[in-house]
Amino acid sequence: MDSTYLHGTAPVEQDRLSQLNRLLNDAALRELSLRGGERIVDFGCGLAQLTRAMARAAGTRAVGIERSSEQLAEAARQAAAAGETALVELRQGDVLTPPIEVQEWGTFNLAHARFVLEHVPDPAAVVRRMVRAVRPGGRVVLQDDDHDVLRLYPEPPGFWPLWQAYMRTYDRIGCDPYIGRRLSALLHAADATPLRASWIFFGACAGEPDFPLFAGNLLSILLGARDPIVTGGLLEPQLFDAAIEAIRVWATRADATLWYAIFWAEGVRR
Ligand SMILES: C[S@@+](CC[C@H](N)C(=O)[O-])C[C@H]1O[C@@H](n2cnc3c(N)ncnc32)[C@H](O)[C@@H]1O
Repeated sequence: MDSTYLHGTAPVEQDRLSQLNRLLNDAALRELSLRGGERIVDFGCGLAQLTRAMARAAGTRAVGIERSSEQLAEAARQAAAAGETALVELRQGDVLTPPIEVQEWGTFNLAHARFVLEHVPDPAAVVRRMVRAVRPGGRVVLQDDDHDVLRLYPEPPGFWPLWQAYMRTYDRIGCDPYIGRRLSALLHAADATPLRASWIFFGACAGEPDFPLFAGNLLSILLGARDPIVTGGLLEPQLFDAAIEAIRVWATRADATLWYAIFWAEGVRR
């Protein structure tokens, strides 16, 4: 089944994704603890910043699979600008029917996906492909959102109804906004043995230099979803706009904090 990618691939969204990578990739690499020499395939690699970072850490060339030609073009541009085209082989394709050669199945040491399973209607099928891609004993690492854990404090008026409306834009198109909590179970169902569950903290308080980036990321995803939220009848336009304004005011408070975490699950192929 085909699926819609909620956030789109406009340049402003690509900037947001790049910023997200800058905020998260060091922590992701720490969690991955690559030993070196791993053959890696990254499902739904987007702009391939983390794909390249993993390849750099492993000292190998990684395969990045991505459906969108806009994302692939920008991924190639960024890799070239960094002098790192040798680190990633970008392949266009769907994670449900990944462009992996017959002889490559069962040979990778690590299959990885971040912020992808939340955007597909059949995440279990994707995880099965990821498990098949690695050799027996090979690692499968899943990182994803569970939108329910977001907390803003002090909570801006109208924020929670807006956030609930945003979460409904996922299930309206057959995707799961709470997929994070299911990641280990998805590994188990796909014949991998879940070995580790963790969280990567994603947030800050107002006194931290990166706080405006976290607040900006939140505003950017909400503003990007205004159309499906409002035209989808999930929230009245005036309530949407008032809640956005309340978040902007909240973001200027000296006592504001954004609490969030990326869910992490890791297993090995049985
Ligand atoms: C939020 S981005 C994450 C990109 C990257 N994994 C990262 O963490 O920076 C999700 C990406 O998955 C891609 N995507 C969504 N559905 C896909 C599918 N069915 N097959 C391949 N790529 C897909 C989107 O085009 C988008 O680039």
